[in-house]
Amino acid sequence: MPRKILVTSALPYANGSLHLGHLIEAVQTDIWVRFQRMQGHDCLYVCAEDTHGTPVMIKAQAEGVTPEELIRRTAAEHVRDYQGFLIGHDHFHSTHSPETQAITNDLYLKLKAKGHITTRSVRQAYDEKAGMFLPDRYVKGECPVCHTADQYGDSCENCGSTYTPDKLIDPVSTISQTTPVWRESEHYFFKLGDFENVLRNWLSGGARQSEVRAKLDEWFKAGLQDWDISRDAPYFGFEIPGAPGKYFYVWFDAPIGYLGSFRALCDKRGLDYDEYLRADSQTELYHFIGKDISYFHNLFWPAVLHGSGCRKPTAVFVHGFLTVNGAKMSKSRGTFISASRYLSLLPPEPLRFYFATKLNSAVEDIDLSLDDFVARVNSDIVGKLVNIASRCAGFVQRAGGQLAAQLPDQQLYAEFAALRGTIAELYDARDYSAALRGIMGLADRANQYVDTMKPWALAKDPAKAAEVLAVCTQGINLFRVLMSYLAPVMPRMAEKAGRFLNISFADWNSVETPLFAHAIEAYEPLATRLDPKIVAQLVEPGTAPVSAPAKPAKAKTVTEPAAPAKPGNITIADFAKLDLRVATVLEATLVEGSDKLLRLTLDLGAEKRNVFSGIRAGYGDPAKLVGRQVVMVANLEPRKMRFGVSEGMVLCAAPDAGADVFLLSPDSGATAGMKVS
Ligand code: MSP
Ligand code: ZN
Repeated sequence: MPRKILVTSALPYANGSLHLGHLIEAVQTDIWVRFQRMQGHDCLYVCAEDTHGTPVMIKAQAEGVTPEELIRRTAAEHVRDYQGFLIGHDHFHSTHSPETQAITNDLYLKLKAKGHITTRSVRQAYDEKAGMFLPDRYVKGECPVCHTADQYGDSCENCGSTYTPDKLIDPVSTISQTTPVWRESEHYFFKLGDFENVLRNWLSGGARQSEVRAKLDEWFKAGLQDWDISRDAPYFGFEIPGAPGKYFYVWFDAPIGYLGSFRALCDKRGLDYDEYLRADSQTELYHFIGKDISYFHNLFWPAVLHGSGCRKPTAVFVHGFLTVNGAKMSKSRGTFISASRYLSLLPPEPLRFYFATKLNSAVEDIDLSLDDFVARVNSDIVGKLVNIASRCAGFVQRAGGQLAAQLPDQQLYAEFAALRGTIAELYDARDYSAALRGIMGLADRANQYVDTMKPWALAKDPAKAAEVLAVCTQGINLFRVLMSYLAPVMPRMAEKAGRFLNISFADWNSVETPLFAHAIEAYEPLATRLDPKIVAQLVEPGTAPVSAPAKPAKAKTVTEPAAPAKPGNITIADFAKLDLRVATVLEATLVEGSDKLLRLTLDLGAEKRNVFSGIRAGYGDPAKLVGRQVVMVANLEPRKMRFGVSEGMVLCAAPDAGADVFLLSPDSGATAGMKVS
């Protein structure tokens, strides 16, 4: 029975462009959805524009347009960017829609009828000039604790204290620059505490991420507070039924936007909305989100759903934040990469692949290191995956374009195909990084097979034509299995490869049967190498200040550690400067005129390096080193030596005294170019 699965990514705010942080989430979701579809499941993927709230209202005012106009413009840009990254939403909607409004009212009225809504008076900053209540973030002033100027109304960036805006010294409204006054107004609250047991039970079910569980325990310990779900006019949002001048707070209707989008999809396709939403639904519902919005999705949202008689999410999948070259994306450092900038320079699939090599089910932050990105893509996609097809295709064409009627190494093929169960489990568990490690391990074996059989050498002898075709049939079949496993990650390449092989990659299990006596088309390049010079343009040079101006350290998100307290210690940032890589020894020879050095030719995945290393004492028979993996410092400035230029260093252990040296090697499974950290 195919499972019925509804999947969402968090709704992007309508007041800003998408950046690569948004995209890692969309890519994580999209891979999962495409994978589930290949399993034969009925998997729907919806998203929408998150449109309501003060920031959208203020931005529209500043630009002299209506909020609706601003939303239309941003949504069009967002949709274009998502498509550019091959994100396959079944539907992309808007929270500012009749569907979302109808469901919002419906859920609210049900919660109210069951007594889960209460009202009380709230004292809040009011801007008399602008004629509006001010969200905490729109009031700034001096921190009441450490007296740093220009702090937001909810917390101090310098000392980390949190407070209410009325505690600020000399507060000002950031909208009109006037001093706010304090006014009382009636607010509507959702009684989250009514759902403590429901939430505890819900959270103990299923495979929850341990980091999320720990955070939730903290929140339960702190106690579940009533949640203020109303805002006073003027506010861009939905008016609360029966409460003129009061609007739903943006975060109340935002997750309901998932359902609004799904409702619109149901109307479009004639699907049964209630089948997915009713309390006893047999369908599955998953939300992919970033760690910053876990509270909303793991507490408020399931409580709102449950309280209004709907089903709860099957699970909420939380991911960490994307960093670029080891630091939080920052406009001033030039490491803020918008989706459209990326797409103006590079194709989407290398990044989808790179993100996949980094994503797992943990809530850890994920780093986009541009050097590593280039090395990995050039080594894995171009050097390994595509290489198999491109080396075999020509020979098949020359033999008439038809694959042989059987495989010379059925056992090898069977091993490749048999791994589909394990790889499927890894994708399903969102452990893409492990899935891709497994797949690239197979790619290495496929390349080894072709390397050993050397069809290009066999082809020199006309009597061996059948053997050449057999070997290439094997190679093409192995490539087909790999491409099938990678299809969720690189759907466009899979499509192209499908045209080359005259097959579709829609069914995960189709690799069970190899392709025999099957016509294939002429090979067209499936991927090209990334040019490091173009990749470097992602972080615009020139925008980064040479030495960053001194800024008070952020209390909550410390990204740049201060100088170490203990002399001799280094910071993480110092350590991150070392680019340590796995390398394979291609050649090792004695160096004439030196009794200490060996000359090593190292394969770094995407390039080769020449290194002189003082390890002769331990490795007098250098030929034995060939094929062995070592760890090298890849970003050491080249050094000119008497014997030539040394382009790096390999790591060795050595006793304090004596001449012994011991080369360091990774465990088996590591591949050339892999980052060591
Ligand atoms: N509009 C809300 C979500 C409402 S969902 C009912 C919102 N929008 S957002 O545009 O700020 O973020 C959208 C998603 O992108 C969130 O899941 C957020 O965690 C994620 N990310 C934003 N910056 C990110 C990174 N730097 N890295 C990874 N994900 C990040 O929150
Ligand atoms: Zn302070």
